[in-house]
Amino acid sequence: MPANQGPFPRTRFRRTRSDAALRNLTRETELSVHDLIWPVFVRDGTSERDAVASMPGVYRLSIDLLVKAAKEAQGLGIPAICIFPYTDPALKTALCEEAWNPDNLANRAIRAIKDAAPDIAVMTDIALDPYNAHGHDGIVRDGIIANDETVEALVKMAQAQARAGADILGPSDMMDGRIGALRDALEAEGYVNLTIMSYAAKYASAFYGPFRDAVGASGALKGDKKTYQIDPLNRQEALRCVERDLREGADMVMIKPGLPYLDICREVKERFGAPTYAYQVSGEYAMIKAAAANGWLDGEQVMLESLMGFRRAGCDGVLTYFAPRVARILNA
Ligand code: PBG
Repeated sequence: MPANQGPFPRTRFRRTRSDAALRNLTRETELSVHDLIWPVFVRDGTSERDAVASMPGVYRLSIDLLVKAAKEAQGLGIPAICIFPYTDPALKTALCEEAWNPDNLANRAIRAIKDAAPDIAVMTDIALDPYNAHGHDGIVRDGIIANDETVEALVKMAQAQARAGADILGPSDMMDGRIGALRDALEAEGYVNLTIMSYAAKYASAFYGPFRDAVGASGALKGDKKTYQIDPLNRQEALRCVERDLREGADMVMIKPGLPYLDICREVKERFGAPTYAYQVSGEYAMIKAAAANGWLDGEQVMLESLMGFRRAGCDGVLTYFAPRVARILNA
């Protein structure tokens, strides 16, 4: 008998791994289509589809094509789609007024998807980076992000998204106090049942690079986001951010990026028990795609394994650009 079996010296783990039936019986978590949220990029025009260079297989779609994609996603059983707009640079202003235009690209996309595919939940992004020329998530005053003024703008943005029919609001800006302010404003307008998924533990990460290409913000970004996103070396700060957002009225919380922060996912789920999500961000997607394109990794297996990791860490779901591909495999 091999040594070192811990407190159960008669255990041989190979017994319960010995065939598929035993492996199925002893599996502790599952990856399901219901765990997926699909982030998508929308652009202006009709029948327009441009490839995002740093994210092979990902496209910016005009609303008509996005609606088709949303219908397909609904058919695959994907529960939610998350919209990010590629905003015309001509519409970008210092005060980001386009963010709360009821007919801006994102709000038109929300309405079109809710009309055509009412059973897929539409999640939004609440942050100002698509709407100004400097690429920051807030309003900048003398080189500093003005927290409270930004929160007022985010509230207007959220109200416009609520009126457009969004199901899940996704504040990704990391300003202080925004969840409470959003919740108050929504309740005042009668949107008592509108869900907020807070980007509660969002790190200042280099893994967002390809996303910033996709939304046209990378050339623009002046400096970095370290004054409002979390330092990658901090764990307790992330837990405090999550606790704060839950107290302020978040229904669901997100950890972002995903794979380098699985410890945070586990701890958030164990400590608070709230619905917890990871965002497998653009850079994580790009790494897997790049290695697969070189023949260095089996891209599909690694894709699935990375998502299993989130589930094992305790996440209830994952925002992933792989969502349609994964859904097809899981449905097969
Ligand atoms: C910006 C936002 C970012 C992402 C989602 N919303 C980038 C950033 O904070 O600079 C990143 C998503 C990804 O990398 O896939 N509000």
